[in-house]
Amino acid sequence: MEQLVAQIEQYKKEISQVTVANAADVEAFRIKYLGTKGLVKTIMGEMKSVDADKKREAGQLLNEFKIYVEARFEEIRNIGEEHSVATTAVDLSLPGADLPLGARHPISIIQNKIIQIFHRLGFAVAEGNEIEDDWHNFSALNLPENHPARDMQDTFYISQNPDWLLRTHTSSVQIREMQKGVLPLRIICPGRVYRNETISARAHCFFNQVEGLYIAENVSFADLKQTLYFFVQEMFGKDVKVRFRPSYFPFTEPSAEMDISCLICGGEGCSVCKKTGWVEILGCGMVHPKVLENCGIDPNKYTGFAFGMGIERITMLSYQIKDLRLFSENDTRFLQQFTPATS
Ligand code: DAH
Repeated sequence: MEQLVAQIEQYKKEISQVTVANAADVEAFRIKYLGTKGLVKTIMGEMKSVDADKKREAGQLLNEFKIYVEARFEEIRNIGEEHSVATTAVDLSLPGADLPLGARHPISIIQNKIIQIFHRLGFAVAEGNEIEDDWHNFSALNLPENHPARDMQDTFYISQNPDWLLRTHTSSVQIREMQKGVLPLRIICPGRVYRNETISARAHCFFNQVEGLYIAENVSFADLKQTLYFFVQEMFGKDVKVRFRPSYFPFTEPSAEMDISCLICGGEGCSVCKKTGWVEILGCGMVHPKVLENCGIDPNKYTGFAFGMGIERITMLSYQIKDLRLFSENDTRFLQQFTPATS
């Protein structure tokens, strides 16, 4: 019995001094002390050599020893886990790994820039629906049914309802805004539009436009020209030349198209400007009195101008992009190249 007490004391001392550095050390401790051939099991076997009258006392002693070893094992296991976390986990003091950053789409960059330029002239943004009815997209804009100018824009109709279509231009938004009857009105309407066109480097079945509209008393063509001169200078820089050509749109009278000197060749003539030195960027004109009437506005009191441009065209000129399809292919090699244009 005395021997047993002395031995247990010695083992306890030994066990209290065990240190572990990793999971393998923890496992070695388990096998050595608590395994099937481990020390606890072996020392339990000593019971048989203890005198009969001391067996109770010895049993208690051995049991306490077993509990001690198990408790120590728990401690050691926790220490082992802490060590392995410390050696394999992230060092929180290091700078984080880079997350791939997205970039704004070039169309969004240019659209925002256009909005900002007109914002400085007091134009507010108005938005409408991509699914429109025939009246807002055509009839109210002085394009009654069977009007030949409807063929200028190949339209996607919605099969469930022949009166519904995908808007072919954002001019439908000017109708909705004029109908609200709050004058004067000074808005730009950015948005996606749809036309049934064969997809090529220069055309797509969907693209983006910005429509502008200013209705007040005494608005003249001179106001229109001044507004667009300002826009071109802010958008493309002071050296760019501008010219107006007479044109036809059913919703404006008179109507014009505006060209700027080619940014690619500087007016010398190249493939982008088809050797003319000029590139068309928008259509415009004085709002037709019939359109005002259709929206409940008195054309004898109010006049206004309107213009409409394709954002893709402006973006292609700003960044010298030659194929319109790149905008909708979602190729990140293309998309990651754009930072806001600064001219
Ligand atoms: N809506 C025309 C188009 O999509 C563009 C346009 C031309 C809009 C002249 C206008 C305008 O407001 O006055 O082709």
